[in-house]
Formats: sequence, C-alpha cells, structure tokens
Amino acid sequence: MATGSTDRKIDRLLQLLAQNATFVLPGPKIASEIGVTRSTVWQYIEKLRSLGVEIKGHQSSGYQLQKLPDILAPSLIKMDVGEGKIGHRILHYFRTDSTNRVAMALATKGAEHGTVVVAEEQTAGRGRLGRVWYSEKSSGIYVSVILRPPLAPSAAPMLTLMAGLAVHVAIRSATGIVSDIRWPNDVLVGGKKVCGILTEMNAELDRLHAVVLGIGINVNHREMPEELKSIATSLRVETGKPISRALVLATLLKELERHYQLFLREGGQAVAAKWSAASSFAQGKTVRVLTGTGEYQAVTAGLDPRGTLRVRRSDGREELLIAGEIVEVK
Ligand code: BTN
Repeated sequence: MATGSTDRKIDRLLQLLAQNATFVLPGPKIASEIGVTRSTVWQYIEKLRSLGVEIKGHQSSGYQLQKLPDILAPSLIKMDVGEGKIGHRILHYFRTDSTNRVAMALATKGAEHGTVVVAEEQTAGRGRLGRVWYSEKSSGIYVSVILRPPLAPSAAPMLTLMAGLAVHVAIRSATGIVSDIRWPNDVLVGGKKVCGILTEMNAELDRLHAVVLGIGINVNHREMPEELKSIATSLRVETGKPISRALVLATLLKELERHYQLFLREGGQAVAAKWSAASSFAQGKTVRVLTGTGEYQAVTAGLDPRGTLRVRRSDGREELLIAGEIVEVK
C-alpha cells in the first residue's frame, strides 16, 4: 500500500524550524508563514513529534527544534543540493511500497528529468533479479531518480555503473569511508554490501524515454537481520557511529548530477576510467560468475566504455559480461 507524499506545508514547517533553530518561533508567525491556522500548526507539530522529531514548546509559547532531525525532508535536502537538475523536485514519503514503482509511474505520466522520490520506509522494496530489498524504517536511504537521457538504450548499463560510482564518491565525501564497487553496481564496505542499485527503464528501440535509478543504501541500521549479516552491512555498523542520512543523500544527488554530466560530455570512456580506479573488481580479481544458466570461475580483465566486464576463464577463453553477477573467490 502506498500512502501520499509528505504534505508540502509540513515540509515548509520543518524548514522554518530548521532555519530558525536558535529561536522560539511563535505559533502565529509560523501559521502566517506557511498559510494555515494556528491549530493546524499544532497538529503538524504533533505529527512531526510522532515521527520522532524533537520540538520544544507549545501553542502559547511557540516552538523550537531541539536538534536537526535526520529526516530526508525535501526542504532539508534541497538546502544542500545545489543548482543541478537532479533533485530540483523531491517527493518524500514516510512510507511507500517501492520508490521505484512510484518513480516509474510518475515517469510514465511525464515527470521531468531529475525528479527524485525518497522514502523513510518501503513495504515492498525491490531488489535485482526479483529479490526483496530490506528497507528498515528511517535507517536507510531508499531513493529513485528519474533521468531522461538523450541516449539510446545501449547506454543504460553505463548509466547504472555511473550511479554506483556516484554512490562510492558520495559515501567517501560525506563520511570518509572508502568503499569498493562490485560489478555491475553493488557498493561494498569491508567486503559486504552497503548499497544496491536497481535500474528500470522505459524505452523504444533507439531511444530511452526514462530511466529510473533506484538506490538503496544501508546507513544507520544498528545491525542487519540474521539472514543478511554475512553479505550485507551498514555504514553505522562499519564505523560504530550514527551518520546523517540527509547529508549522504544531498551529497549523492550532487555526485549523480556531476557524474551524469561527465557521462554526457565525455562518454563511457571517462566513467569507465573512474569506475575502474574505484573498483577492486575491475582487473585481476578471481570471481565466480553467475549467469542465468550456470556459473564458472574466472579472473576479471577490465571494463569497457559500454559497461561490459571482460573476464578470463581458467582455460584462457575470454567472456564479455553484459548482465549477471560476480562474487569474489577468496
Ligand atoms: C539490488 O538488488 O542490489 C538492488 C536494490 C535496489 C533497492 C532500491 S531502494 C530504492 C529503490 N526502490 C526499490 O524498490 N528498489 C530500489
């Protein structure tokens, strides 16, 4: 079940409180700034409190934010996103089934390039190959970005690699953590997955209409569920410290814009070069290759500008991987 996106007025209220965190804001002032009655302001405050936002004060004295909440509210993210198209429109959900489903539906109705859908919780998060994406409330970043690239469908694999690279750069710049990228686009810390990317698209034979980049990042999970612990982790588990999801998301949107522009300007070669520098899987890694029909062992031998990974089997035969998965053999 999908509920509606967050009321713009609640978002505006959060923004007002955040921008005036050192003052007590009188109820009537808030009411006139956001264009609602004083009793509606009070209802909004109660709604925010029920979501864990700490706000001091009451109707008679006014309100003051106790600390900046780690909510992925559009107004808080936009303060840091900059001028790019990606993130100029952000739809925020406290709860939805899947941000990719919402973004795909919006794209079909004509949503603009750069529109972002983000949720605090997903009830039916989708992973690759029909898997489920574990989407714990307020712990991860569950975001989908609509792109309308002036490119052919053959560019889609490279767009996905570009997104993995942008996540890697954003995590480093927001937290200092240096992650690895496993082809095609899993981001790993300490050998375990912290981010997965699901790309869905709407295309004709020679033209991409819309690409939805669905990105899930495990940020503040205190621990991963038992069944995922051996393969997945969170940034908090790895560092022992809570991390601002809002900062990671704002940085990610900026890096997506920067790397998307790089791809349009300089093509797959430029992205492949940066990707290869960031990934220990690009060259010389012994991996198990899992295809739809079977699996075999091979050594990686470079990424080409279309996003294809070259691997060498033990008998010397080379394969070009277009889709599928690889797992490190230790
Ligand atoms: C993977 O299997 O590695 C891809 C996981 C992608 C998960 C993200 S979370 C945001 C977006 N919405 C979804 O339903 N899936 C993607």
